[in-house]
Amino acid sequence: MSSLRVLISAEQIQARIRELGAEIDRDYPQGPVYLIAILKGACFFLADLARAMKTPARIEFIGISSYGRGKTSSGEVKLTKDLDVSIEGHDVVVVEDIVDSGVTLNYLLKVFEQRKPKSLRIAALLDKPERRQRPVEVHYVGFRIPDEFVVGYGLDYAEDYRNLRDVCVLND
Ligand code: IMP
Ligand code: MG
Repeated sequence: MSSLRVLISAEQIQARIRELGAEIDRDYPQGPVYLIAILKGACFFLADLARAMKTPARIEFIGISSYGRGKTSSGEVKLTKDLDVSIEGHDVVVVEDIVDSGVTLNYLLKVFEQRKPKSLRIAALLDKPERRQRPVEVHYVGFRIPDEFVVGYGLDYAEDYRNLRDVCVLND
């Protein structure tokens, strides 16, 4: 039987997102900021972050898969859905649920840099720095967490648990 333990409550998540929204407002007073969420895990974070900002935002989605059905990365990154718009000359913030090995974002940043955005930053709700294999600079971090497998608030295990309101540690 697997068990769930709340690591970060829904209230803590929302409070931190309000702070991140204010930080992004200060950094981009003009807008529009292109918030680009990585499907599917970042969808709730994107929705809450966009509404925590006063700066005008445009929202876009990209699909990348680096994980199979297990808890560890396959190490292989695939672009499964590209953007529908050009980001050339725009301020871009990539919105991600969690930075783990860094493989996904390291790859995505290389792809996006070639498209000549005006600026390119990352907002990640969670960061597991101990697990990093590829360097990634994350400008907006919600919470640094220990090396434990978490689910909820968009994060899944084999597509389950995404709709939990809290971020929970999943133990087998
Ligand atoms: P990375 O490429 O290793 O940095 O992995 C990033 C992706 O792995 C995230 O977008 C998640 O989809 C997934 N991932 C990493 N750690 C976890 C976790 O603890 N729970 C659920 N998904 C995770
Ligand atoms: Mg993901």
